Amino acid sequence: MATFEGKVFSVTGAGSGIGAATAKVLYSRGASLALCDLQFEALEKIARELKPVSAGQHLSYNAVDVRKTEDVNQWTDGIIKEFDRLDGAANIAGAVRILPLGTLLEDTTDEDWDFTIQTNAAGLQMSSFPAESHEKWGAIVNMTSVAGLDGAAGCGAYSPSKHAVIGITRTAALEAAPKGIRVNGIAPGLIDTPMAATDNFPVETFLRQVPMKRIAQPEEIGRMVAVLLSDDASYMTGEIVRIDGGLRA
Ligand SMILES: NC(=O)c1ccc[n+]([C@@H]2O[C@H](COP(=O)([O-])OP(=O)(O)OC[C@H]3O[C@@H](n4cnc5c(N)ncnc54)[C@H](O)[C@@H]3O)[C@@H](O)[C@H]2O)c1
Repeated sequence: MATFEGKVFSVTGAGSGIGAATAKVLYSRGASLALCDLQFEALEKIARELKPVSAGQHLSYNAVDVRKTEDVNQWTDGIIKEFDRLDGAANIAGAVRILPLGTLLEDTTDEDWDFTIQTNAAGLQMSSFPAESHEKWGAIVNMTSVAGLDGAAGCGAYSPSKHAVIGITRTAALEAAPKGIRVNGIAPGLIDTPMAATDNFPVETFLRQVPMKRIAQPEEIGRMVAVLLSDDASYMTGEIVRIDGGLRA
């Protein structure tokens, strides 16, 4: 099990689901964390649940809208000031907005395109972070989806936005490699979070295609984030790890 004592990681979307579970996994392994989400009260609740396991472990949390460059820059500057370093970023904030489910690309409104691309793709602003903030060691994990690897008819702009996450991840991996920073992505299948309950998503129909015949718990994704942030993945960059219960086995 990786030990993150002395490391500082940022986690976006930490107020719910996979982001919250990731924060719990990383904190339980000794990392100091800077969390953000749109929902400040949700962050407060998660922060109360996190228990330090080592002396000198710090936690901060801020309301940040990852769509807004100025907000993200201010947050990053604050992290460097407070923690004096940033070793890794878990970019997990994301949103699905399918109005209604079954909306074809041709019927997707401009507003939906903008919202979805801004949140899921442009929101990955932490795909690079200042080189001076780390010691020639850094790791970034971006959250895509199986809908970023394969098309997903009737999901509006969500699948295109998650394909963009993969393009950003691979490009960032090439650009960051000389700085000693690795950038990888995770493509989850169906995970038991509030998002999976969005817009009457047909969970039972989806599960019929999943060989493992169950929905995953968000911790099962959080643990892979921890692997990718650790030296266990020291020669791995630009890769997308699919976690889907065998959907495409
Ligand atoms: N749940 C699934 O089945 C599933 C499957 C594949 C991929 N994913 C991806 O995993 C990530 C997390 O999803 P989840 O299931 O935990 O969803 P969730 O809705 O439980 O959590 C998402 C969090 O992101 C935050 N967020 C949304 N927009 C934001 C913004 N502009 N700025 C800051 N924070 C913002 C929300 O407030 C929320 O707390 C997303 O990127 C999602 O696309 C989820």
